[in-house]
Amino acid sequence: MFDHPDYDSHEKVLMVEDAQSGLKAIIAVHSTALGAAAGGCRLWAYDSGNAALVDALRLSRGMSYKNAMADLPMGGGKAVILGPVAADKRTGVMQAFGRAVDSLNGQYITAEDVGVSVADMEIIAGQTRHVGGLAGGAGKSGGDPSPYTARGVRVGIEAAVKAKLGHTDLAGLKVAVQGLGHVGMYLCEELFNLGASLVVADINPARVSEAQMRFGAMGVSTDDILTQPVDVVAPCALGGAISEYVARYIKAGIVAGAANNQLLTAEAGRILGERGVLYAPDYVINAGGIIMVQGELSGDNDTAVVTARVDAIGGRLDAIFARAARDNVITNEVADAMAKDKLRVANQAKARRTVAA
Ligand code: NAI
Repeated sequence: MFDHPDYDSHEKVLMVEDAQSGLKAIIAVHSTALGAAAGGCRLWAYDSGNAALVDALRLSRGMSYKNAMADLPMGGGKAVILGPVAADKRTGVMQAFGRAVDSLNGQYITAEDVGVSVADMEIIAGQTRHVGGLAGGAGKSGGDPSPYTARGVRVGIEAAVKAKLGHTDLAGLKVAVQGLGHVGMYLCEELFNLGASLVVADINPARVSEAQMRFGAMGVSTDDILTQPVDVVAPCALGGAISEYVARYIKAGIVAGAANNQLLTAEAGRILGERGVLYAPDYVINAGGIIMVQGELSGDNDTAVVTARVDAIGGRLDAIFARAARDNVITNEVADAMAKDKLRVANQAKARRTVAA
């Protein structure tokens, strides 16, 4: 584990196997320097245990960066449940997962991610209080974080359009959305309402039909979505969408979407930079959901206040784009440097607190 290429000094990695329910899960706690490690739980049918481990480690480090860059008082962690999980086993699996989260005594706080719903979180909440993404009351944010994530991505697209094209008006802009799941569909709605025209793809044809009917979107094959002749490409499916090949053939001037870990390799980011494609660092633009969850966990979740916090993503991206242009550095490297700086300062403060105690 300590030599694993993605280990990156995780504070803790918990492997969980529950014979009774069949749960197999990994909970990765990357950093608690800024607070409890918060990040969603993904349920996915991984090809191997190592693929699940790699996903957990990369996603949890991403959460440390995401929470630090969003100025949230939370560290970074992530959980993966190894699927598939049969429908009749799901409740037992979620309960066992909730007990595993509880065993960490608040070091890790879970919420929804791909493959996991608000209903699952309600089951987990029966076993632990260290869970977010539960249904909110009137005027309060809560429940599915996806609409907040989508709003943040839309605000981020506006910031990227401003940096690249000199205006924030999305009317008439062409956007290709890859993945029409929770976030992708809400993002289409946001963009459609502002007059953008949409090109979409999903492995699930029913999702494509829905976007065609509701937003007049044009459906294309999942192989071609990222290289469409559009202004913006928004990856909203799984990670690793921007390979070096895709980076070379993207026609859009902007890549700005919700998916975590969009760049398959560091080289893919460099190719985008060389070709003048503006990349909105994923963990900055997609922080809307975790901003909502933090509001919910802290009880400071008035909808208007949380929405304003999500809209602040635009200003953060403005600063990253400006610094990248000033220093002639690619945007993801600017964001990584800023996030690492914040974590270094937080680690020093934590060390001082430990010594003082
Ligand atoms: P989801 O599971 O609801 O949606 C993913 C969609 O992508 C599904 O409709 C699926 O059919 C489609 N898809 C999968 N592979 C595809 C491919 N090769 N081509 C086209 N479509 C494909 O997931 P959700 O919640 O919408 O999340 C999307 C991405 O955003 C994920 O990477 C997630 O980690 C990230 N994210 C989500 C947040 C949230 O609030 N839900 C917060 C931050 C990041």
